[in-house]
Amino acid sequence: MEVGAGMATEPDFAANVRLADAEAIAEAGRLLRQGRLVAFPTETVYGLGADATNDDAVAAIFAAKGRPNFNPLIVHVADVDAAARLAELGPVALRLARAFWPGPLTLVAPRKAGAGVSALATAGLDTVAVRVPANPLAHALLVAAGVPVAAPSANRSGHVSPTLAAHVAADLGDRVAMVLDGGATTHGLESTVVDVSGDRVTLLRLGSITAQQLAAVTGQDVQRATEAAVKDGIVAPQSPGQLLLHYAPRARVRLNVTEPRPGEGFLAFGSIASEPRHDGPTINLSPAGDLTEAARALYASLRSLDDAGVDSIAVMPIPHDGIGEAINDRLNRAAAPRVG
Ligand code: TXA
Ligand code: MG
Repeated sequence: MEVGAGMATEPDFAANVRLADAEAIAEAGRLLRQGRLVAFPTETVYGLGADATNDDAVAAIFAAKGRPNFNPLIVHVADVDAAARLAELGPVALRLARAFWPGPLTLVAPRKAGAGVSALATAGLDTVAVRVPANPLAHALLVAAGVPVAAPSANRSGHVSPTLAAHVAADLGDRVAMVLDGGATTHGLESTVVDVSGDRVTLLRLGSITAQQLAAVTGQDVQRATEAAVKDGIVAPQSPGQLLLHYAPRARVRLNVTEPRPGEGFLAFGSIASEPRHDGPTINLSPAGDLTEAARALYASLRSLDDAGVDSIAVMPIPHDGIGEAINDRLNRAAAPRVG
C-alpha cells in the first residue's frame, strides 16, 4: 500500500492560512510590525516569524511552540548588509555569506550591541544566528516587514519541521495570526548552521549545504561539534538543536531496516523493484534514488505515516553521501530513545 507524502495531513485548513500573494504578504508584514506571529515558507522549512526587536513578540514564539527558552532563534533578514548590522561578520563569515546567501545557511557570529535584537531571541548569548533566505516569498515578507524576523521552524517543539502550510496549521492552528501558504518547500531540511564566532569554522547543524562545500569556500577544514561528546556530557551543546531528542514523529522509528514488520509504516528509498514486499503503509522517498528528492520528501512522509496511525516506522538504509549525511542526522534524532 503506497501512501502519498502529505496526503492525510492536507485540508482542514485553518481560516488563517492565506495564499502568499502580494496582498497577503503586505498584510503579514503589517502583522509582524504589530508584534503578531506569522508563519511563512522559506526554501528549507516553514518558519514561525516575529519581530526580532520586540520582546513580547519573541516571547510569543516560545509560548506557541512550547520551546525551552534557552534555545536561541535564527534572525532572518533580507540581505547581507542587514545581517552585518546585527552580527560581526569577519572575513570568513563574509566569504560564506557571499557564496551561499540568499540560501540555506545560518551563520552564528558575535552579536552587535545596540542592534536592537531581543535578548530572548539569542537566549542571552553574546552571539546571534543570522540567515538570508532564498525563497522569494520569504524575501518579499522581510522587505514588507522592514524589521529583522526571528523565526524557528513552525512546529511544536521537538516535532518534525513543517514543509507545507498544512503542517503548520496542524501543529500551531490559531496560535499564529497568519500562515502564508507558498506550497511545499524545496529543500525540506533545516538550514546548515555554522559557528563563525571563533578562530575555527564549526558546523553546528548539518543541512543541504555540506561540510565539503563549506571547506571549499573557507579554505579551511570545518570542525564538527561532535554529537558523541555532547551525549556523553563531555561538552555542553554549543547549539541546543544538537540535543538528541529532536525532529521526532509520534511513532517510534527504526533505522536501516530491510525487512519491515507487518503493519509497520515503511519509508523506502531507491528503485521500487528492489523495495521489499510490505504489508503496511509505505512511502518511497525517492524511487530514483535521488537524495535531494528524498530530503524534500522526508518530513511530510514521516507526518503521513504518523497520520496513518502506525506505532512504528521502519526506514530503509539511506546512503551517507552529500545531503544523505543530513538526512541520516535527522533520522538518527527521530530514532533516538525517548524520555518520558
Ligand atoms: O532552515 C532553518 O534554519 C529554519 C527556517 C525557518 O529558517 N529555522 C530553524 O530554526 O530551523 P530552529 O529554531 O528550529 O533551529 C535553529 C537552530 C537551533 O538548533 C538553535 O539552537 C541554533 O539554530 N542557534 C540559534 N542561535 C544560536 C546561537 N546564537 N548559537 C548557537 N546555536 C544557535
Ligand atoms: Mg526547529
